[in-house]
Amino acid sequence: MAAHVNVGRRMVAALALAMVACLSCAVAGRVGGPGETQRLEVRRHLKRFNKAPVKSIKSPDGDTIDCVHVSHQPAFDHPFLKNHTIQTRPNFHPEGLFDDSKATSDKKTSSMAQPWHQNGRCPEDTIPIRRTTRDDVLRASSIKRYGRKKHKSFPNPLSVEPDLLNENGHQHAIAYVEGDKYYGAKATINVWQPKIQQTNEFSLSQLWILGGSFGQDLNSIEAGWQVSPELYGDNNTRLFTYWTSDAYQATGCYNLLCSGFIQINNAIAMGASISPISNYDGSQYDISILVWKDPKEGNWWMQFGRDHVLGYWPSFLFSYLADSASMIEWGGEVLNSDPDGEHTSTGMGSGHFPEEGYSKASYFRNIQIVDGSNHLSAPTGVGSFTEQSNCYNVQNGNNGDWGQYFYYGGPGRNSNCQ
Ligand SMILES: *[C@@H]1O[C@H](CO)[C@@H](O)[C@H](O)[C@H]1NC(C)=O
Ligand SMILES: *[C@@H]1O[C@H](CO)[C@@H](O)[C@H](O)[C@H]1NC(C)=O
Repeated sequence: MAAHVNVGRRMVAALALAMVACLSCAVAGRVGGPGETQRLEVRRHLKRFNKAPVKSIKSPDGDTIDCVHVSHQPAFDHPFLKNHTIQTRPNFHPEGLFDDSKATSDKKTSSMAQPWHQNGRCPEDTIPIRRTTRDDVLRASSIKRYGRKKHKSFPNPLSVEPDLLNENGHQHAIAYVEGDKYYGAKATINVWQPKIQQTNEFSLSQLWILGGSFGQDLNSIEAGWQVSPELYGDNNTRLFTYWTSDAYQATGCYNLLCSGFIQINNAIAMGASISPISNYDGSQYDISILVWKDPKEGNWWMQFGRDHVLGYWPSFLFSYLADSASMIEWGGEVLNSDPDGEHTSTGMGSGHFPEEGYSKASYFRNIQIVDGSNHLSAPTGVGSFTEQSNCYNVQNGNNGDWGQYFYYGGPGRNSNCQ
């Protein structure tokens, strides 16, 4: 039959098409052994993420840190940044009540380190970038979405619709302010390594700088620590950032996994582990994060600890945030994949409830906002929000040393959270 050949050829073509289509939506090829198309796809992505390093440093935790020349970083893949002149320092740095340079109780922040420092440092004019491995990309449920959030998972304390609570299994315990114009936020965040029950789950503690409405076009800048076996392949606590300008749909990513953030600091690698970690009823460690808007250029800058201005998100990445933020949130988020139809036992914060207090429950202290006159100040009218307080909870407080603070978190599954 002559037609057979044609059908066969057409089938091969259709199969090839299906494979390409499939690869762009999910790594299904993995099941039947990685095919050539997938290998090429992975290689193409790795080439995009990993820029030619000046020097590479092997971290004791298994990561490789590439020192990449500042002008070769992923940001400059962005067409709008082709002629960009890198800002080597912010024009403006907000100061306030709990300024790190004045604080004396903040010594621990400066001892916070990244394990890769044990094996070397990045030279001047380079930035440290955590190398993305083939395994990192293959672990992602979709190669295309590697490094990006899968769901519209923003915590929305303004929504009281039960359908929207626990949306996609994302659970939060947060403090927030809204109803004003905000130009930045700061917090000192207790660092823990919560248990993750399933590798597709995560636990994070961060601040959110939000603009717009919780619809299609929410703008968000996020920074904090996270444990995410899917993203990093281990259970280490890592420094991370995230941004989106369309409610996690098409824009944005974690760390430097897409073009956007421009890093200028050669000591801190986003996505790399941080240590030490706090111990239950033992030593406590925390990190300070400040994100603020440069009133002159409009860029959003980020500082880690007392010494490290990491870099900035150019204003043009955003719509609402090009002007100001309309809401600030601080707190924890967990992805509950509902394993075996029960609530996950993935922990948030230290994995203990707020009532347990210092050295047992995790905290955010000295939470501040950057106000309309570009000063750091204590937020007023701080609200709190959690979807299921029997699983993860939050408790606000206020005192002289810690200013506005809160304890948050919990163990997830327990007798009151099934
Ligand atoms: C960059 O600068 C060159 C030369 O000045 C100009 O031709 C080009 O249009 C600029 N590109 C962008 C994206 O601004
Ligand atoms: C991460 O922790 C889970 C249990 O909480 C464990 O099953 C898994 O092996 C750990 N993964 C790694 C890479 O250590």
